Amino acid sequence: MSPAPDTATATAPVIAARRLVKTYGIGDAVVHALAGVDLTVQQGDYVAIMGSSGSGKSTLMNILGCLDVPTTGRYLLDGIDVGGLDERQLSLVRNRKIGFIFQSFNLVPRTNALAQVELPLAYAGVKAAERRRRAMAALTMVGLADRAEHKPNELSGGQQQRVAVARALVTSPAMLLADEPTGNLDSHSTKEVLGIVDRLNDSGRTVVLITHEDEVAHHAKRVIRLVDGLIVSDERQAPVEGPPPAMAGAAGALTRGGVR
Ligand SMILES: Nc1ncnc2c1ncn2[C@@H]1O[C@H](COP(=O)(O)OP(=O)(O)OP(=O)(O)O)[C@@H](O)[C@H]1O
Ligand SMILES: [Mg+2]
Repeated sequence: MSPAPDTATATAPVIAARRLVKTYGIGDAVVHALAGVDLTVQQGDYVAIMGSSGSGKSTLMNILGCLDVPTTGRYLLDGIDVGGLDERQLSLVRNRKIGFIFQSFNLVPRTNALAQVELPLAYAGVKAAERRRRAMAALTMVGLADRAEHKPNELSGGQQQRVAVARALVTSPAMLLADEPTGNLDSHSTKEVLGIVDRLNDSGRTVVLITHEDEVAHHAKRVIRLVDGLIVSDERQAPVEGPPPAMAGAAGALTRGGVR
């Protein structure tokens, strides 16, 4: 891999994707999951990607997350041309550049919250004491310092997703990439998790999330709609007025920078 030095990438867009095409199958069975997507996302943006089932959202997310490669097209992530990287190099880029949040949390069973959040730091080669310190800080940011020893089956769904958010942000990635992050949550937990994501964006973190729900997309600064593998609209929207009272809990801990 030959990533440009950090100084050169400081002003590069987080996402610069050109003419992304993803084709499945051959002949009559061919599916153009992405039919030529151009997308630029600058640092600090907050983007919701919407579209009906089959429109290509997950296909796009997988490519943006370096979990898959386009059939044709070019993708620069934080200034790094990821085309042509091998699996090992791609996994390094994923670890360093992207914090993933999935609908189903994807926590490791029988492993406490602190260890879950330490995992990406362990992959990155961070030493144990530093790992612990940073993981505790991330758990504190999502309001779960007092749940550090709890395993997934000892946490509510909303708390599990907050652990996943802490795990996603602990490496200080260039972008948080979330696929239906509130799809499995009740409305209270949805507000808590989105409140945290909003504050992470307020503090400069780039966020790209995929959602079916207008209410979720409402949190973003920019909404992109996909139809049949093409972007059909890309609009800025007015910022959401201050957090509703329901977010005062976990999300409030972020602005206070402290423990609940
Ligand atoms: N591995 C695959 N092989 C063949 N076709 C695929 C594959 N993955 C996706 N597709 C097709 O590509 C298109 C886009 O799929 P994708 O999963 O990106 O949609 P989506 O917008 O995420 O839908 P949903 O909202 O249901 O998750 C669909 O027509 C789908 O059937
Ligand atoms: Mg999908």
